[in-house]
Amino acid sequence: MTKPEVSVPFADLHKQYLSIKSEIDAAIVEVIASSAFIRGPYVEKFEGAFAQAIGASRCVSCANGTDALYIAMVALGVKPGDEVIVPAMSWISTSETVTQAGGRVVFCDIDAATYTLDPACLADKITDRTVGIIPVHLYGHPAEMDRIMEIADANNLWVIEDCAQAHLAEYKGRKVGTIGNAATFSFYPGKNLGAMGDAGAIVTNDGDLARRMAMFARHGGVRKGEHQIEGINSRMDDLQAAVLSVKLKHLPAWTARRQEIAAIYNGRLTGIEGMVLPETRPDCSHVWHLYVIRHERRDALARHLKAAGIQTNINYPVALPFLQAYGRFGHKPEDFPVAHRSQSRILSLPLFPEMSDEQIDRVVTAVEDFKGQPGLRRPSWQESSMDTRMWGVLGLGIRFLPGRVASYGAAITMPT
Ligand SMILES: Cc1ncc(COP(=O)(O)O)c(C=O)c1O
Repeated sequence: MTKPEVSVPFADLHKQYLSIKSEIDAAIVEVIASSAFIRGPYVEKFEGAFAQAIGASRCVSCANGTDALYIAMVALGVKPGDEVIVPAMSWISTSETVTQAGGRVVFCDIDAATYTLDPACLADKITDRTVGIIPVHLYGHPAEMDRIMEIADANNLWVIEDCAQAHLAEYKGRKVGTIGNAATFSFYPGKNLGAMGDAGAIVTNDGDLARRMAMFARHGGVRKGEHQIEGINSRMDDLQAAVLSVKLKHLPAWTARRQEIAAIYNGRLTGIEGMVLPETRPDCSHVWHLYVIRHERRDALARHLKAAGIQTNINYPVALPFLQAYGRFGHKPEDFPVAHRSQSRILSLPLFPEMSDEQIDRVVTAVEDFKGQPGLRRPSWQESSMDTRMWGVLGLGIRFLPGRVASYGAAITMPT
């Protein structure tokens, strides 16, 4: 069988590059000419600009968003036996770093409308060993921060906001990343603000915490030659910082275009039987890192879109508690019913700022076309659990994220 031509990719980083080519090229040439590749002025400049864009007083850059979580937890003093609560649906970085920092991961179910940590389930998870909570502003929608902060304050817990997917999102008029004790960001290439390689950052308004995080990330000393403690090497390099400084200026316009596309999808895809559209809470500004729908026949819809040349992703095919990595906990579907139900129904449609109106139209038309298709069987429960098992195996080696779409072609080849 010949491969269908891709008419709508999941993301188009090359098109983004071409749209700002002269600025990016000039920034890269400048860094190369200066030979200031590590600990040069470009990193400091980006840290200042990013802190200002988020509205935080401090920004500590690092090598990626996973390190950002780890560094923040080490600086907050996580120690063996400490429990940290994370949502059941996220990328594994949110939970694996708890273990790396020496703590114990405790999962909490998600809210069915926003896929973010459900505060109603939170209280039950708190024990006398709980030290912190990591809400994730998943897909670009802010978590319910007021209630999470209330619970955290009442129990003397710290809060790290995982903002890897939510640059510039707002909760009740405040940028996410300014509400908890610290907030972590990823600049993985496919993120709303993406580098041309790996990069990450932590923002905070706590100067002492910022100093401890910077110290740990830079071999245990902020100044060269000083090592007050043992640390790690987690640096953003100057080439990435220069690229990010250019892209940061475009982020508000790119975010507005993401919101415009989401509004078109919301308007045109409404009322399709079997499909649930993503919601935005009235007091939130969603930045649409991902446009995630739920569909009763998700796998058949994904196959239909693929045949129409439209790439989709599943973020994520196996909710965290059910990954093999957490088999030791023996979690059951009924422990996290919302996350478990979601994992077999969610599908991310293409949404990126450079998408043309024609591409948007193609997606809408193809989804509408699926609606009218007879003969597509509803998968039996047996089939669904088979899919889940397959995703589990595939999920070990494949990251289903924008920018890594090449691997998706293989992953979507599922039993029919
Ligand atoms: C929610 C979430 N947290 C953390 C990360 C980790 O970021 P990075 O890939 O930069 O390590 C990601 C991105 O992959 C993410 O989506």
